[in-house]
Amino acid sequence: MASAFAPGKCILFGEHAVVFGHPAVAVAIEQGVSVRIERSDDWTLEGSPFNPSRHPHITHILRNVFNYSGPPLQIDVQSSLFSAAGMGSSAALSNAFAAALHEHVSPDESIDQITLAKMAHSAEANAQKGRASPTDTATSALGGCVVVSDYRVKGTKHLFDTSLETPEGSRSWAVNSAIIPPGIEESWLVIGYSGTGSPTGKMVANVARLISEKPERMEEMDRISKITMAGLTALSAANLEALGMAMDACHESLKNLEVSTPKLDRMVQAARPHSMGAKLTGAGGGGCMVALTKDPNRVSEAIEVAGGRPLTTRLGAEGVRSL
Ligand code: PMV
Repeated sequence: MASAFAPGKCILFGEHAVVFGHPAVAVAIEQGVSVRIERSDDWTLEGSPFNPSRHPHITHILRNVFNYSGPPLQIDVQSSLFSAAGMGSSAALSNAFAAALHEHVSPDESIDQITLAKMAHSAEANAQKGRASPTDTATSALGGCVVVSDYRVKGTKHLFDTSLETPEGSRSWAVNSAIIPPGIEESWLVIGYSGTGSPTGKMVANVARLISEKPERMEEMDRISKITMAGLTALSAANLEALGMAMDACHESLKNLEVSTPKLDRMVQAARPHSMGAKLTGAGGGGCMVALTKDPNRVSEAIEVAGGRPLTTRLGAEGVRSL
């Protein structure tokens, strides 16, 4: 039997602007996906017959990454993430599955997190018709705080470069890490799920249309980029007030990009009196918001009163690991 766990992620800054080449900052969260693999007589997933076409991430890793041709496997998956909510559940599944499969086929060989990050990114790209930034997969594999950008970002440690052939041409990214200093431990993130999915492709297309109709809105991308850099500086200095202010400012820019919803706005407003800052996180249009707070219980209550489902985590959990 082999098993592994990989965390989900929460974008602190830079969603949507990252599509236009600016940096995005994401942290790994404590919740995630665990996968258990066992040799079996039949291929099963969660006790039912495994249907490869319905599980493109698992199928890609089995066939194209590992060229697996061994006996059938019983695959069990457990997730503590809301799915299709911008929490990186498919990236966490890909990382945990790749780590567990590696342990199953090569129990005496270790595998490093960057290799797993690249495997999981190829699974995401395969499942998303070639369009996938490495943000979710790298954050889930490496843990901590990850900064993804078209260029190397000052104040971060460069880890690796990665590129992808997309339908729009070749794209490349620098994947960097930022240190989470000990002072951050005084705070929690409370993530609030709005109850509806976050359609990333649709929201990215909506922003592209908005910018083509109202080119002046492109200014928001530069604004988000500046907020991201200010947020990163605040994070490195464990300046929670400044970090929260940057999150508030980021939410305003995302509203100007028309990706927030009345429900997300209500949850953000409900969280703010007990938080250093709050914003939507991920693509918007549904999905989640996130608040930075020293009082996670009160913020969770406020989010519930506003109709959301809260989840509390420290910032920057460990990355993918064998169990
Ligand atoms: O899929 P989500 O909800 O984590 O959002 C992704 C962030 C975007 O910037 C909106 C899209 C992208 O590819 O980076």
